Amino acid sequence: MQRTLILVKPDGVQRSLIGQIISRFEQRGLKLVGMKFLQMSQALAEQHYAVHAARPFYQSLVSYITSGPVVAMVWEGKDAIAAARSTMGATNPVAAAPGTIRGDLGMEIGRNLVHGSDSPENAEKEVNLFFSEAELVAWARSADPWIRE
Ligand code: RTP
Ligand code: MG
Repeated sequence: MQRTLILVKPDGVQRSLIGQIISRFEQRGLKLVGMKFLQMSQALAEQHYAVHAARPFYQSLVSYITSGPVVAMVWEGKDAIAAARSTMGATNPVAAAPGTIRGDLGMEIGRNLVHGSDSPENAEKEVNLFFSEAELVAWARSADPWIRE
C-alpha cells in the first residue's frame, strides 16, 4: 500500500478546477485519506521543492506554488504513486497525453496544475511535510472490492 501527496497548484484553484482535478483521482480508484486547503509559506515551498534548489527554474517554481492557495491531499492505494502520476500526465502539458489532467487542462510547464510525489521516499517526506499522522484518516471504502481484485 502506498500513499502519495497531491497538490492542486494555485492555477488549478484560480481556474475553478479543484473539483475536476479531485474527481480524476477519485474516479480512478485511489482512496482519499487526507485533505486541506492552505496558502503555502515561502519556508514550506522551499522545503517541498528542496530537490530542485539547484535548477534554473527553482525561483519561479517557489513563487508559482506560493502565488495563491493550494489543495493538499493524500491519496492511498496499491501503486498509488505511479497511478497518480499517470492520471496527472507528463510534466509539460503540451507533451501530456489527452485524457490526463495536464493533457486536458494545461498549456505550460510552469502552469501544470498539479503536483504528485515521484517515489516512495519523496512521498513519505512530502506527506509528513503537509500532514500529521492524526490528520490522516484510516477508513474502509465499501467500493474497494469493485476496484481491487
Ligand atoms: P511535480 O513535482 O510538480 O509533480 O512535477 P513533475 O514531477 O512532473 O516535475 P519535476 O521535474 O518534479 O518539476 C517540478 C515542477 O517544476 C516545474 N518545471 N519547470 N521550466 C522548466 O523546465 C521546468 N521544469 C519543471 C513544473 O511546474 C514541474 O511541475
Ligand atoms: Mg516532481
